[in-house]
Amino acid sequence: MLKGLIFDLDGVLTDSARYHLSAWNNLAQELGITLTDDQLDALRGISRMDSLNMILKFGGQENKYTEAEKEKFAAEKNEKFVEQVETMTPKDILPGIPELLKDAKAQKLKMVIASASKNAPKILTRLGIMDEFDGIVDPATLSKGKPDPEIYIKAQELAELKADEVISFEDAKAGVEAIKAAGQFAVGIGNKDLLSEADYIVPTTADLKLSKIEEVFNSK
Ligand code: BG6
Ligand code: MG
Repeated sequence: MLKGLIFDLDGVLTDSARYHLSAWNNLAQELGITLTDDQLDALRGISRMDSLNMILKFGGQENKYTEAEKEKFAAEKNEKFVEQVETMTPKDILPGIPELLKDAKAQKLKMVIASASKNAPKILTRLGIMDEFDGIVDPATLSKGKPDPEIYIKAQELAELKADEVISFEDAKAGVEAIKAAGQFAVGIGNKDLLSEADYIVPTTADLKLSKIEEVFNSK
């Protein structure tokens, strides 16, 4: 029986994923690395330092910088990202999400955030929906990032639920992989070829309808 929903944040509740990707793209260009669209897409859901290491690898620069230099690059990227976050308002909640949260509340479902972002509390506060959630996994407590299932297992524990009692939402391939590795029902939002491992896929958040998703969840 469905008892809870677990949400990724960037690219699911709001379109902050594009701020992450454009900040990474700028940093990559400063380092003389040109990223393809597929490489940028592969960064979705990936933690800050893992993203930087992936970019350096894409550019053949994986051994070029010291840890201290990498920390500096990551901090620079984060500064640019936070500048964008500061402009966010409740209007930046993606279409379909307010209705989804309302339907979940009406059914008394637990709701937890499973975002790799250390900026999640800041973003949720800017969106005015911080109080909607029963918990946020602290990414600083994780030993491995997505696609490892750790974050989704922790989210399920925060909700005090079992894997077959939750539906989890993701826009990232690495995120869908993490959900499936945790044994949970995955809703993928975005490109169906990229998110093919998900149990239910919609092109955009506007296509999310809790009753429809539940039908598929109950039939599994
Ligand atoms: C994820 C984003 O939610 O958080 C990634 O999808 C991002 O793009 C990651 O790298 C870490 O975010 P932050 O805000 O801690 O750098
Ligand atoms: Mg995401």
